[in-house]
Amino acid sequence: MLNSAPGDSLVNHRLLLAARPSAIPGPEHFTADSLPARVPGAGDVLLESLYLSIDPAMRSWMRDGTGYQQGIPIGEVMRGGGIARVLQSRADGFAAGDLVQARLGWQTHPTIAARYLQKLDLGLGTAEDWIGPLGLSAVTAYFGLRDIGGMRPNDRVLVSAAAGGVGQIAVQIARIEGCRVAGIAGGPQKCAFVRDELRAHAAIDYKAEPNLSAAIGRACPDGVDLYFDNVGGATLDAALEHLRQGARVVLCGRISQTHAEEAYGVRNLGRLAAARGRMQGFLVFNYHDRYDEARTWLAARRRDGSLQQRLHVLDGLDQAPRGLGMLFRGENTGKLVVRLATLAPTHS
Ligand SMILES: NC(=O)c1ccc[n+]([C@@H]2O[C@H](COP(=O)([O-])OP(=O)(O)OC[C@H]3O[C@@H](n4cnc5c(N)ncnc54)[C@H](OP(=O)(O)O)[C@@H]3O)[C@@H](O)[C@H]2O)c1
Repeated sequence: MLNSAPGDSLVNHRLLLAARPSAIPGPEHFTADSLPARVPGAGDVLLESLYLSIDPAMRSWMRDGTGYQQGIPIGEVMRGGGIARVLQSRADGFAAGDLVQARLGWQTHPTIAARYLQKLDLGLGTAEDWIGPLGLSAVTAYFGLRDIGGMRPNDRVLVSAAAGGVGQIAVQIARIEGCRVAGIAGGPQKCAFVRDELRAHAAIDYKAEPNLSAAIGRACPDGVDLYFDNVGGATLDAALEHLRQGARVVLCGRISQTHAEEAYGVRNLGRLAAARGRMQGFLVFNYHDRYDEARTWLAARRRDGSLQQRLHVLDGLDQAPRGLGMLFRGENTGKLVVRLATLAPTHS
């Protein structure tokens, strides 16, 4: 495990993009190096990374060219967001010991201009809450259901990848808001988590179902008002068969298509027309100005005990490449993060 112990002269351990994957990413696509941590200049802050968020979108950033964001150049630090502690500050408003979130990159001790940092409001939650139920995955679920999905009490809601980072929060928000919720997840353990801990009304193990559409029909006997789709492909097609009148389909992600040799051609769009439904994609970044609204709501549900979050924690920067691959093999349950350090006393 790469890390620095108290008393080390500060070394920044980094993981750089070394090769562009053609399939599921792994350690072979990264190289490690270690440099002295950069001394902060005016307006900069030297950080100690605590948690990195591991997200499916990172796979698209490893491509050449542009998607919704520019691809990462070969030889550059892998892009990624996380939570860090300030070790040294040369910026107004930040002091040693502050906790911040930022696009840290896959590195242990980044030095970053303060304008790119957001100080954590610890009144809302702990560092673990900020990478978990107050983090971007949770915020994505909040805006996806409400603003894109137009969620209403008593809606019949279906969520795919329901045991994952976004999905587990989507299931719970919908339940808290008085909806009837069914979750789709891979394997009996994930389904038990969705049913017993997230308290969905039904869970569908798509890996065990020869006919997913029939299984959705059993779990959602009155149909689906709101489908929150994290998966795309054949799962989306199966869900479309069960839309009720006026249904909304939220295109949050399409992880099943990331490594598909040929893009899946959705067949059931006619069902959307027949239901007078609508389907809309979104990117959470467009809600940047309203993140506080989501976090205030989520923190309140956290405090009253109605919202839980399972973090799937890997320890050490060197685990990040393996972690990224785990998302595409369904090996994570809950929000996947890499822990680089714990909140021990500051060593500056
Ligand atoms: N729109 C936005 O702004 C936004 C923001 C964040 C995330 N997202 C999207 O939200 C989705 C979930 O992201 P997350 O970070 O919460 O990841 P996650 O759900 O924690 O992990 C990914 C999960 O996807 C499922 N999966 C992987 N490959 C699959 C396949 N071929 N077919 C079906 N399911 C598959 C696996 O669950 P099972 O074992 O249950 O299959 C896996 O655990 C992703 O599509 C992501 O791109 C969108």
